[in-house]
Amino acid sequence: MTILIVGATGLLGRATALALLKDGQRVRVLVREPARQPQQVSALQQAGAELVAGDLTDPASLERACTGALRIFACAHSFLGRGRYTSAQVDHVGHSALIAAALSAGVHRFVYTSALGARENHPIDFFRTKHEIEEGLRDSHIPYTILRPSSFMEQHVHAFIGKPLLDKGFAVIFGPGRKRRNFVSVRDVAPFALTALRDDTLLGRTLDIGGPDNVSNRDVAAMYALRSRQGRAIHLPLGVAHVGGTLLRPLHEGVARLFDVAAVPDDEWDETFDPRALLAEFPREMTTVERFVDERVRDWRRSRVGRGR
Ligand SMILES: NC(=O)c1ccc[n+]([C@@H]2O[C@H](COP(=O)([O-])OP(=O)(O)OC[C@H]3O[C@@H](n4cnc5c(N)ncnc54)[C@H](OP(=O)(O)O)[C@@H]3O)[C@@H](O)[C@H]2O)c1
Repeated sequence: MTILIVGATGLLGRATALALLKDGQRVRVLVREPARQPQQVSALQQAGAELVAGDLTDPASLERACTGALRIFACAHSFLGRGRYTSAQVDHVGHSALIAAALSAGVHRFVYTSALGARENHPIDFFRTKHEIEEGLRDSHIPYTILRPSSFMEQHVHAFIGKPLLDKGFAVIFGPGRKRRNFVSVRDVAPFALTALRDDTLLGRTLDIGGPDNVSNRDVAAMYALRSRQGRAIHLPLGVAHVGGTLLRPLHEGVARLFDVAAVPDDEWDETFDPRALLAEFPREMTTVERFVDERVRDWRRSRVGRGR
C-alpha cells in the first residue's frame, strides 16, 4: 500500500514520513524542487521514500503522484507564500485539485492537516481556507481524517520567539503578548497522523490536537530569557502590526499575513485548547512548553560550547 505525502519536506510531513518508513510502510513523497533541499530529500530517500516531482499549483503533477497511491497525507501549506504561491493558489486551489486527483485515482483515504480554530468567519483568510478544504473533503466522499493541531512549538515558540532571543538578544512581540495560546510539538502531532494513515480508528473523525498547556508569547520569551540568562522581549504597539499588514500586502502577501495575525484582537480569536478529552481518549505524555524550551536552550548552550563561546 503506497501512502503519498504532500508536504514531506516540512516539519510535520518529514516527521510523519520518517515514522511511517520506520514502521515499514511504503511512502511516496511529492517534492516541489528536490534540488532546493538536497539534504532533506536525500534523507527521505535514504529512509526508503519514493520521490515524485510535483507541485500543488500543477494539477497534472498531482494526478501523476496520486496514481497507485491508496492513502494521502496532505500536510503542505503556503501561509507565507506570494506570487505564484499565494495561500489562495496553494492552500485553496491546490488542495481542491489534490482532492479531485485523489478521487479520480481511487485513493481510499485522505488525511488532511487543517488547524485548530479553522472556521468560516475566522478573521484570517488562511483559517477560512482550511475550513473550506475541510468541507470540500467531507463532501468528496473519500474516507477522511482531519487533523486540527494548535500552533507548532517548533515554529511559534522557537522560530518566532526563542531563536531570535537567543541569537540576537531580543524577540519582537506585538502588543502586551498576554493572550494565552496553545502550542503543540510536531513530535506529538506526527503519531496522530501515523494512526490516521495506518489504522481505522480515526476514520471520519475531525480531531483537535493541542499540547498540555496554554501560555502567552510573553511567558515564552520569559522562559527563554530565564534559562539562557540573556535576552528580552521588545513590545511593539499593536498599531504597528495593523499598519505593517496594510503596507506590506502589495509587496509580500505572506509576510503581511503574519502582521495581520498579530493585529487580531485577542477576543476575536481564542487560541486556547483544553487537552483533557484528547488525553482521555488517547492517553500519552505530551511535551510541555517548559520542557520544549529546556531542550532548545540546552541545544543552544551546546552549540555555543562547540563554537568556543
Ligand atoms: N506550523 C504550525 O504552527 C501549524 C499549526 C497548525 C496547523 N499547521 C498545518 O500543518 C501542516 C504542516 O505544517 P508545517 O509547519 O509542518 O509546514 P512547513 O514546515 O511550513 O512545510 C510546508 C510544506 O508545504 C510544502 N509546500 C508548500 N507549497 C507547496 C506547493 N506549491 N506544492 C507542494 N508542496 C508545497 C513545502 O514544500 P517545500 O519544501 O518545497 O517548500 C513544505 O514541505 C500544514 O497544513 C499547516 O497548515 C501548521
